Amino acid sequence: MKIAIAGAGYVGLTSAVCFCELGHRVSLIEIDPGRLGDLQAGHSPIFEPGVPELLLAHRQSGALTVTDSLQAAVDGAGALFVCVGTPPRASGAPDLTALRHLIGQIGQVELSPDLVVVLKSTVPPGTNRWARSALGLPNPVVSNPEFLREGTAIADFFQPDRIIVGGPDHEALLRVAGLYAPIEAPLLLTDWEEAELIKYATNGFLALKISYANEIASLAEAIGADGLQILTGLGLDHRVGPAFLKPGPGYGGSCLPKDLAALRWKARQQGVRLELLPAAERVNQRQRERLIDRLRAELGGLAGTRIAVWGLAFKAGTDDLRGAASATVIPALLQEGAEVRAHDFAALTAFEQLCPPEQCSGLRLTQKPLEALHEADALLLLTEWPAYAEIPPEAIQQAMRGDLVLDARNLLDGVAVRKVGLRYRGIGRGR
Ligand code: UDX
Repeated sequence: MKIAIAGAGYVGLTSAVCFCELGHRVSLIEIDPGRLGDLQAGHSPIFEPGVPELLLAHRQSGALTVTDSLQAAVDGAGALFVCVGTPPRASGAPDLTALRHLIGQIGQVELSPDLVVVLKSTVPPGTNRWARSALGLPNPVVSNPEFLREGTAIADFFQPDRIIVGGPDHEALLRVAGLYAPIEAPLLLTDWEEAELIKYATNGFLALKISYANEIASLAEAIGADGLQILTGLGLDHRVGPAFLKPGPGYGGSCLPKDLAALRWKARQQGVRLELLPAAERVNQRQRERLIDRLRAELGGLAGTRIAVWGLAFKAGTDDLRGAASATVIPALLQEGAEVRAHDFAALTAFEQLCPPEQCSGLRLTQKPLEALHEADALLLLTEWPAYAEIPPEAIQQAMRGDLVLDARNLLDGVAVRKVGLRYRGIGRGR
């Protein structure tokens, strides 16, 4: 089938190339001229493993066309996927400006009556219902939330834990579900609001789980126990499961923080008092502060020190800084008079835009991990790029002036690091 997709961000572009892999023809709509040009040339505007290759392949095969014309994209299409961004406002409310504009445009073009409008963007409960009435057309509207993680989006598309399709038109639900064939996954057909809230409920729970892991790790640290062993034991309970129990610098990304804020906003709007999600957010913020407190305590103060930071992206496998620990920790270190040298394998350019020299004097970004270590009093590891664990502890020790290694991802081999005379501190690793 021909599928139209509006919005070529992480979700839209990944979905476009993956639907092509499933044998569909896709017309991807991008209104930004710069991104449109890149996409037409087969250059991926996003850093997502596997997407650049699939984009180029399907541009060359002709399965994927890119256009700025909604009409051209929907002509002959059986479905139009809405994948525009819904970024958070200060209140936590998702900004639906782009979505509203697109729904208005859809109402103006010629649509085949059996084309299904599919909302894949993460939207507050009630948005699909609003879209159906705002469209003023007989076309069915279906909610089909995505659960793609940055860095593993393609794998998550082809091996989903479930496919959720929501709306009142059962035949339309089955048509949308059929687009994913032959992917084998549990299929849940719901109404609109259920599908919309499943997305938020999932991300809210993942954030809760991470914050819970971080709290248990803090307690383990205080009693000198190994938090990783405790969390492994917890995860072996089939009612808990091992995933998302890794303690770290606190969750980041474009979704978990945004979706928690949206859930809280929606609950306030509905007069429902939420206790757990605000706590998860407080624990998350505190996790960053604890890293700075640890450095200050171990170094006897931060002013005049030099801190090496390995990892800027919110997690390994992406160049995305949204919600990243580095975005709060590095400015705080600079604020206290520390000098920072930072490295990342993908997010250096993005961080330079976030923290330009005129705003972040005292920060130097380095192309190589060891350059960041030069004469450093401490190393703070924030992003679990596997290559950091390949660097010999001797090289770390020789490059540094001091001996403190604060590994916020428990990525490095603490025994090997201690063996070369460095003070290794993990997260939740006891004394
Ligand atoms: C998340 C959801 O997983 C995905 O389903 C949704 O569609 C988009 O939001 P993403 O933000 O890409 O995906 O990354 P994810 O892998 O979920 O990690 C989110 C944050 O939690 C990262 O900062 C990560 O480092 C952190 N995390 C994750 C932990 O601190 N501990 C863990 O055990 C897992």
